[in-house]
Amino acid sequence: MVTLTQAPTADTPQVATERADALVFFGATGDLAYKKVFPALYGMVQHGVLDVPIICVAKAGWTRGQLLERARASINAQPQCADGRTFAQLEALIQYIDGDYAEDETFVRLKQLLGTSRRPAHYLAIPPSLFGSVVSAIGRSGAGDGARVIIEKPFGHDRASARALNAVVHSVFTEPNVYRIDHYLGKEAVENLLYFRFANTFLEPIWNRNYVQSVQITMAERFGVEGRGRFYDETGAIRDVVQNHLLQIVGLLAMEPPGALDAEAIHDEHAKVLRAIPPVLPYHVVRGQFRGYDQEPGVVCGSGVETFAALRLEIDSWRWSGVPFLISAGKKLPVTATEVVVRLQRPPIKRLHRSEANYLRFRLGPDVGIGLGTRVKARGKRLETKAAELVAVAQPRADEVEAYERLLTDAIMGDRLLFVREDAVDAAWAIVEPVLGNCTPVYPYQPGSWGPAEADHLAHDLGGWHRPQ
Ligand code: BG6
Repeated sequence: MVTLTQAPTADTPQVATERADALVFFGATGDLAYKKVFPALYGMVQHGVLDVPIICVAKAGWTRGQLLERARASINAQPQCADGRTFAQLEALIQYIDGDYAEDETFVRLKQLLGTSRRPAHYLAIPPSLFGSVVSAIGRSGAGDGARVIIEKPFGHDRASARALNAVVHSVFTEPNVYRIDHYLGKEAVENLLYFRFANTFLEPIWNRNYVQSVQITMAERFGVEGRGRFYDETGAIRDVVQNHLLQIVGLLAMEPPGALDAEAIHDEHAKVLRAIPPVLPYHVVRGQFRGYDQEPGVVCGSGVETFAALRLEIDSWRWSGVPFLISAGKKLPVTATEVVVRLQRPPIKRLHRSEANYLRFRLGPDVGIGLGTRVKARGKRLETKAAELVAVAQPRADEVEAYERLLTDAIMGDRLLFVREDAVDAAWAIVEPVLGNCTPVYPYQPGSWGPAEADHLAHDLGGWHRPQ
C-alpha cells in the first residue's frame, strides 16, 4: 500500500543545510556506478565523511552479495590501492533493494528501509528518461519528505523538457533540496576559475571588453563514443557537453563578482551572465561528425548527429559586449585536453604587435595548470620579441573520481555551491535552443584532425582556433 503525501511547494522553500542521514543510490548496478560512484563512495568513507546508511536500488535480479562484489571490483579497478578496512566499513553501510522503478512496491520497501531517517538524499544515477517517474514514485511513497535529490546530467533534452522535468521535481522537492550534477563543477581546476578571478586584484582591471580580445574554450577528446553510441546518437556534442560543462565554464569566466561568498549569491551572478547571452545564431555554429561514426554500435546509419561543435557567442553586458566567446568540443580530435584561453588585445605599438597577443591559459584537464602568455625581448640588437609562457601552477592529473567524491560529499553535507540551479539550466538551454538537432549542416572530418575546416571562419578574425597540446 502506498500513501500519498503532501509535497512541499516551490514557494515554501526550506534551505537544505543539514547533513543527510541516509543516501539512496538509484542505478547502483549501472555503468556510472561502476566507473565513478563506488570509487567516490569508497573515498568518502576513507575520508570520514560517509557513515550513513547507503540504500542501493536497481533492477538487475541481483543479491546484495552480487552488488558488493561489483562494488569491490569497481574500487579495485582504480589506480590507488584499496584497503580492506575501508571497504569493510563501506560494505557495512550498504543495503540493497532489487526492484523495478515502475512499481510502487519498490518505493514502499525503500520507505521501510529508510526507517527513522529524517533527511535522506536520493541520488538518481539512472537513465534520464526515468528521472520524472522515479521522482514521482519517491513522492508518492513518502520517501521524499524532508529529503533532497541529486540528479545526474543531462537535465532535459531541450528547454521545454527541462522545464517539464523541473515541474515534476518541484512537485516533490523544493529547489533548495535539488542538487543538479554537472561533474565539471566538481573539478578543482574549474572551481579555481572562480578563485583565480576573485581572489586576485590584478585581474579585475583587465577582465573586460577594454582588454580582452576573445575567450576560447576547447574541450578536445582523442577518443570516440566508446560504447555509448546509442546514448550519444540521441544527444550529440551540443547537448552532451556544450549546454552544460562548457556553458558552466563560460558562466564562471564571465560572471560579475558575487555580493557574498554563499551558494545563492554565486548562483545569482552565474545565472545572470548566462541570461545575458543571446541565443546562438545558426551561422555562428559549425557541426561536424568524424568519419566512421555511423559504423559505431548503437548509432543509426546515416546519422546527422554531431560529434564536433564550434560556436561563437556574445555576452550582451557592460563588461563583455563585443568580446567573442568561442567554444569548441569534439570527439576523435588529436589530443584529450580541456583549456580556456583568454586572449588580450595587442599592444598599440605597431612594431610590437605583429606577433601573437598576450593571453591567460587555464588548463582544466587531464592535467592542470595556468599559463601566462607574454612577449619578451628576443636576444640581439633588433627590436624583436618572442613568446614566453610563464606557467603558474601545474598538477599532473585532474581526477574525475575526485570530482564525484567532492560533489557527493557536498550533497550529503547540504552545500549547494557546486550544483546547477534551475535558472542556470534554463538559461543554458535557451542559448543553444536554436541550434539543436539538424538545423545546420554536419560536416565530416577525419579522426585525429581538429574537426571540419568549415569551422575555421568562426575564429578567423581572432587569430584562429586555439589548439591545446
Ligand atoms: C560527460 C560526457 O559528461 O563528460 C562525455 O557525456 C565526456 O561525452 C565527459 O567524454 C568528459 O568528462 P571529463 O571529466 O573526462 O572531461
